[in-house]
Amino acid sequence: MEHETAAPAPAFELANVRFKDVLDIENLKIEACKVSAIVGPSGGGKTTLLRMLNRMTTPDSGRVLFFGQSVEEMDPVHLRRKVVMLTQMPVIFAGTVRENLLIGCRLAEKEEPAQEAVAAIMERVGLDKELSSDAAQLSGGEKQRLALARVMLMEPEVMLLDEPSASLDEQTEVLIFDLVTEFCCERCKTLIMVTHSEKGFTGYYDTLVRIRDGRVEQVTHKSGKRGG
Ligand SMILES: Nc1ncnc2c1ncn2[C@@H]1O[C@H](COP(=O)(O)OP(=O)(O)O)[C@@H](O)[C@H]1O
Ligand SMILES: [Mg+2]
Repeated sequence: MEHETAAPAPAFELANVRFKDVLDIENLKIEACKVSAIVGPSGGGKTTLLRMLNRMTTPDSGRVLFFGQSVEEMDPVHLRRKVVMLTQMPVIFAGTVRENLLIGCRLAEKEEPAQEAVAAIMERVGLDKELSSDAAQLSGGEKQRLALARVMLMEPEVMLLDEPSASLDEQTEVLIFDLVTEFCCERCKTLIMVTHSEKGFTGYYDTLVRIRDGRVEQVTHKSGKRGG
């Protein structure tokens, strides 16, 4: 059967989205299977924008579409299984490292990942700890990587990362950028990441979205970013 190849549907499309005096976005498309960086001054609305993408925050007006479907029409559990957010200050639950890794899947009512997948993810984020060890004993950077591993285990279609490298040193930051972008690219997942490190993240993103005072100030698409 012959047919024209249509432009791929964006992962997200926002139209006339308003939320209090915090966000006012006329139009924004976020491409699927790409890396998008969200940057801009503090208080500009970056976190609020991410929260709208998995309906943690609902706009006062306008529409947020996920692959063409309004997120308001979707079952929130279903949506949050596919669109997973790692918050700026990740939550570490009382219990073991293993419990902390598996709780994401449990809360999203997803099947428990296999033992090998859990071990592989620990190695990938560079957490050299026993699964039975107490999560509370981890350092700040280790907790952040634990929370990231928890999100990756959920195998979401879209990862929303809110400044995942904020409290990390430069070396660990590079490790995290490599890790999350590789993870998404190899699986054709969509990565949307708020970052302060606009320069440090330059080699990684396909699209840059700058938010200022609740508005989209700039959208820049790069081409042929990877492999170079
Ligand atoms: N639910 C809310 N109701 C009212 N104001 C909010 C709400 N959430 C965030 N804000 C305000 O919106 C502004 C932008 O916040 P935020 O999205 O966290 O910005 P950023 O992540 O860019 O620093 C801030 O002034 C914040 O206090
Ligand atoms: Mg924020």
